[in-house]
Amino acid sequence: MEPRTVLTLIGFCVPRRAEKSRLGTFFSGSGKETTVPANSMEELVSLCKRRGFIFQGSEIYGGLQGFYDYGPLGVELKNNLKAAWWRTNVYERDDMEGLDASIIMHRQVLRHSGHEATFSDPMVDNRKTKKRYRLDHLVKDQKADVVAKVAEGIGESVENFPAVVAALVANPARASEALIAAGVRDPFSGEVGDWTEPKPFNMMFRTTIGPTADEDSFGYLRPETAQGIFTNFKNVVDSTSRRLPFGIAQIGKAFRNEITPRNFIFRVRELEQMEIEFFCAPGTDEEWHQHWLEARLSWWEAQGVPREKIQILDVPKEDLAHYSKRTYDLMYDYPTLGYEEIEGIANRSDYDLGSHTKAQGELGLVAKVEENLDSIAKLTIPHPETNKPVVPFVIEPSAGVDRAMLAVLSEAFTKETLENGSERIVLKLRPHLAPIKVAVIPLARNREEITTVARRIKADLQKLGLGRVLYEDSGNIGKAYRRHDEVGTPYCVTVDFDTVGKGEDATLTDTVTVRDRDTLAQERVRISELANWMRERLR
Ligand code: GAP
Repeated sequence: MEPRTVLTLIGFCVPRRAEKSRLGTFFSGSGKETTVPANSMEELVSLCKRRGFIFQGSEIYGGLQGFYDYGPLGVELKNNLKAAWWRTNVYERDDMEGLDASIIMHRQVLRHSGHEATFSDPMVDNRKTKKRYRLDHLVKDQKADVVAKVAEGIGESVENFPAVVAALVANPARASEALIAAGVRDPFSGEVGDWTEPKPFNMMFRTTIGPTADEDSFGYLRPETAQGIFTNFKNVVDSTSRRLPFGIAQIGKAFRNEITPRNFIFRVRELEQMEIEFFCAPGTDEEWHQHWLEARLSWWEAQGVPREKIQILDVPKEDLAHYSKRTYDLMYDYPTLGYEEIEGIANRSDYDLGSHTKAQGELGLVAKVEENLDSIAKLTIPHPETNKPVVPFVIEPSAGVDRAMLAVLSEAFTKETLENGSERIVLKLRPHLAPIKVAVIPLARNREEITTVARRIKADLQKLGLGRVLYEDSGNIGKAYRRHDEVGTPYCVTVDFDTVGKGEDATLTDTVTVRDRDTLAQERVRISELANWMRERLR
């Protein structure tokens, strides 16, 4: 369960005129001199707002902390990312099914999942400012000498930060004294705080259901999509006749009332997850855990997040979530933040199905679960070898969509200085992720013969089903190229006078200029060949 501290880490170019009488690439070579990746979160935040990827939620009323809205380009990128995950994990495998479960869940689900009792973070209040903080975040963000004093005050080594936090939580009265004595400052006021004892704060959002707001008629907004998979296990098995091993995949919203949401979309209160619960026979779980670790790393690589930017954290036993036998956290090197969790891959053993099943005592569970007298379902499946009913083990790769967005944006963000000294920002997104695949630009927006052809090309390319194609006539061509570089459009297609037979070279009639975002190369392509040209490159 997220989050933890890392311990063990196993110029755009103005269009050049076509070289006369020659089809194909006529300006090759990048024209670039230096390339610099995004090095701060601020640069990303600024681009996201400026170009319409991500906005603060409820912004016109001052904003709501921990909630973000995905704008015109953000929604396209997000949909493409989720589609890529679904393609790899559901369509390209033969052992997966999909699911879309409801967000609001029966109270008993989150009770028997263990979330009511354990899904909490320690918080402390500053009596002076009345501000509330997550204990580990508050301490981690202090100056090094203050953190050292807190560790000393609670009798732990500063080298082992999770142990410091654990000791503070275990000794609330001493913790309050240690925080005050060490001079822990309130990030809001900058002054040393008058800190309360740490208390657990359950992060689940509760909501009333129906018109009677009594104690029994409430439900929870799910804090993870996983529980909808466990509660539907029997439905999926009965309706698909699946046998072990197989998995169920789901993408959807989850809600966590984070004490300190921060770092843009890294830690939000309304998040989206892409989760797989992979069910396998007990004893085969460790092998499947390794399989999913490799599979997930290679998926990230295919999205442009390279292997060398991810460290694998073998989560220490004392830091494991209540359901986990073993967890690998994939830690991505975010700009400004450094290595933070992008995905957790947990071996949840037989904990969840074991917790939600009736007749637990007869099932020989390995995990320690609370008694369940509420469930009406027996969550077993025939063992592949013995055919006897068994509660399967579960391997769970669980990735955050918002954190994935941040990672692909940060990997794609590039600043280049061109040969002519000008600078361009370019989002080098993989084509399958790009929010706009092609921008079709009429060179003269008031010349009907040109705009008619451009609109027809836009409509024809749109029909290919490759994603969004944009008819772009909002400014001069230089500005259009600059904008599309910044939003990651892989190709710009320009319709000019040559295209409509009114240029100097009749051989260029019925051809267009296609400009490549990354290389800046421009190629003259026949309109009749454009669909195939794009299909080959945008798959
Ligand atoms: N079902 C397991 C589970 O939910 P988790 O480690 O708590 O495990 C999985 O969450 C992933 O969800 C994390 O790796 C992270 O990418 C994402 N995530 C968790 N909390 C988040 C938050 N407050 N904001 C954004 N993403 C979050």
